[in-house]
Amino acid sequence: MALVGATGTGKTFFARRLLAHVPRLIVIDPKSTLRDYVPRPYDKRARKRLENGEPFRARFAPAPGEDWRYEQIFEDIYWAGNVVVYIDEVYAVSPPGRQPGPYLTALYTRGRELGIGVVAATQRPAWVPLFILSEANSYVMFRLMLDKDKRRMAEFMGPAVLGDIPDPYGFWLYQTSWASQNKPAAYYRSVV
Ligand SMILES: Nc1ncnc2c1ncn2[C@@H]1O[C@H](COP(=O)(O)OP(=O)(O)OP(=O)(O)O)[C@@H](O)[C@H]1O
Ligand SMILES: [Mg+2]
Repeated sequence: MALVGATGTGKTFFARRLLAHVPRLIVIDPKSTLRDYVPRPYDKRARKRLENGEPFRARFAPAPGEDWRYEQIFEDIYWAGNVVVYIDEVYAVSPPGRQPGPYLTALYTRGRELGIGVVAATQRPAWVPLFILSEANSYVMFRLMLDKDKRRMAEFMGPAVLGDIPDPYGFWLYQTSWASQNKPAAYYRSVV
């Protein structure tokens, strides 16, 4: 799932609700704002539970200079399977202009068969690697400021999403499977 929208439009709020009951969850928290949501760090113990197929919820917020660990965690996820990973800001994990890591790519292209779900949020869909959008089954688009970002999303969600979003936390939802039914994106005023 791709969650896109300008800052403060409700992506993280939506993800917190959506993932509240996921039994095996890793939160990638580049901005370190989700401690209250998932207090447990992704440490040795969480890693063991991931490997053993046990329930766990853990969060990785990098210390300064620790960004290299993202790929290592994606590698753990890839080999363990049956887990959901939530990436609270994709371009921290895959900075613009840098080649995305092989395991992040693998989660998107091969994760489905391995029971791996990826939910990724971003403020700037035009900046993230294309597979973040093209491999998604579901798109949630909150308010975007830039036309470039809106147009990028319209390529996946259809032209309906080019219009303005009147509600502060309103969003468009689109599922890839709707394409074959010619069903357009659906508008929701808010999660609550
Ligand atoms: N559906 C909603 N109903 C009521 N309040 C909401 C809703 N969605 C978001 N908010 C409020 O707006 C604030 C900002 O939302 P949120 O943190 O989810 O934005 P964001 O899109 O993740 O922004 P950023 O890109 O900066 O991380 C939240 O802390 C919450 O208080
Ligand atoms: Mg957020």
